[in-house]
Amino acid sequence: MTTFHTYDAVIVGAGGAGLRAAIEAADHVRTAVISKLYPTRSHTGTAQGGVCAALGNVEEDYPEWHAFDTVKGGDYLVDQPEALLMCEEAVDAIYELEHWGLPFNRTPDGKIDQRRFGGHTRNHGEAPVKRACYAADRTGHMILQTLYQQCVKRNVRFFNEFYVLDQLFSDDGRCAGVVAYELATGELHVFRAKAVLYATGGSGRMFKVTSNAHTLTGDGQAILYRRGIPMQDMEFFQFHPTGVYKMGILLSEAVRGEGGILLNAEGERFMERYAPTVKDLAPRDMVSRAIYQEIKEGRGAGPNKDAVWLDVRHLPREVIEEKLPDVTEFARIYLGVEPTRELVPIQPTAHYAMGGIPTDADGRVVVGPEATPVPGLYAAGECACVSVHGANRLGTNSLLDIVVFGRRGGRHLAGFCRDADLPPLPERPEGFVRDLLDAMLARERGANAADLRTELQDSMFDLAFVVRTEEGLRKMREILGGLRERYAEVAVQDKGSRYNTDLMEAVELGFLLDNAEPLVEAALARTESRGAHWRDDFPQRDDVNWLKHSLAYKQPDGSVRLEYKPVRLGIYEPAERKY
Ligand code: FUM
Repeated sequence: MTTFHTYDAVIVGAGGAGLRAAIEAADHVRTAVISKLYPTRSHTGTAQGGVCAALGNVEEDYPEWHAFDTVKGGDYLVDQPEALLMCEEAVDAIYELEHWGLPFNRTPDGKIDQRRFGGHTRNHGEAPVKRACYAADRTGHMILQTLYQQCVKRNVRFFNEFYVLDQLFSDDGRCAGVVAYELATGELHVFRAKAVLYATGGSGRMFKVTSNAHTLTGDGQAILYRRGIPMQDMEFFQFHPTGVYKMGILLSEAVRGEGGILLNAEGERFMERYAPTVKDLAPRDMVSRAIYQEIKEGRGAGPNKDAVWLDVRHLPREVIEEKLPDVTEFARIYLGVEPTRELVPIQPTAHYAMGGIPTDADGRVVVGPEATPVPGLYAAGECACVSVHGANRLGTNSLLDIVVFGRRGGRHLAGFCRDADLPPLPERPEGFVRDLLDAMLARERGANAADLRTELQDSMFDLAFVVRTEEGLRKMREILGGLRERYAEVAVQDKGSRYNTDLMEAVELGFLLDNAEPLVEAALARTESRGAHWRDDFPQRDDVNWLKHSLAYKQPDGSVRLEYKPVRLGIYEPAERKY
């Protein structure tokens, strides 16, 4: 059975970007938010260390300094006008959250307190600057709760535990709505709408060790990719240096912002060698690579010599209790380590996709080298690529991205809906999803999705990691080909219609494959090292040939076609990246 709904606007995903967009849209047009989770369980809630804005509350600071750091941090693949705009709008976006009641930590004179984070500097690199606004190490949790309250106040209509599985277009190419699967009943729902905004988050679950929740399977990116929308800059995937050893759970960079340091097995503060100016507060790509190098050269810590130490033993007790309570508790719970007395073993963890659905600064999905908008289609947050993070995102710029571009996207979408009419639905709109699910349910024997997922995660973590080579990426391409073939025969054991998570996990595996394939193809093609994409066989950045964004398109036969579009420069001249 299929149920039909009609709204002006549909927002897919109820994390920070989706909720911020909903606040903007719901005052003006009939808006529904569809989420595969309950909104307050969204992954934004796990973001820890802060959200940055050049408030200048603690140290002198300006949005332009922030923009420069963002561009340099992104290894000059950043679209510069968009980065500057984000940094300028950051200040107002933070005060808006404060006025909505977000309980930021305070300076002694009552202002929003700020702390250091990697790659954020004063005056174009002189020294680290305190730019991250924070609520202990629960900043994302507080943002999510604050935004959710604003949605409740506006009576936003939520469809929770609904999995959006397909995007609908009218015959003339306009966005016409989405198809969703209701977890509680197994029923399909067609949401007809003038505009849809995707805010479905990241895709870190394609890697074995990740800070990402189980739900982060790149759904929005894959749904649109299957419908002909490209994925931009997929080769740039960030590994956060300090994940809980073996588990990947995030131990915030705020630890280093507050004075924590990294040590190798010899007790050496090795970041002094790799980034003499900012040391442990270098951007994440550099710190993760330094950890990789230390381990490779035999200075890894722990019984297997495959970790390094995070040291907070010297931090004052009040800093730990007031500013880092969760992180230190995670060390106790997950590692059985008392961080005030013992060293904490960490390793890089797959954390953030810089790439995703290409959008402009108003959240409009754009296609092709000319960045042509698709009428009615929007994206914001990690699933989108504006691109303000370029080849490597700075810490705390992601929470900023969701509030700034969630707000801008929601605003533009509301305006679009006021002027547009409702596009006609295609015939049998739920057909693609119905056929996909029926085939999986009908198969009595076939590949097991969990086995395929484990193979995907293990091999991606091995071959598409912090350091890559042509040989490794080619091997990964081959593995993906095999996984794709077996996925076509995937069978689920649960044939029921109520809470069939077995079925949804099989569908999510398909989304992960659709994210991994363009990542590997774009990484193979990019014969240079830039930001988070490090090719051991091409260790130099090559601006002559590669200062350009990649766009990956899914071909009818499933293969990936790549094209490129220029980076929007014009403010800062690309320069060598030294810290
Ligand atoms: O380390 C952290 O607290 C993470 C922040 C971020 O990814 O922006």
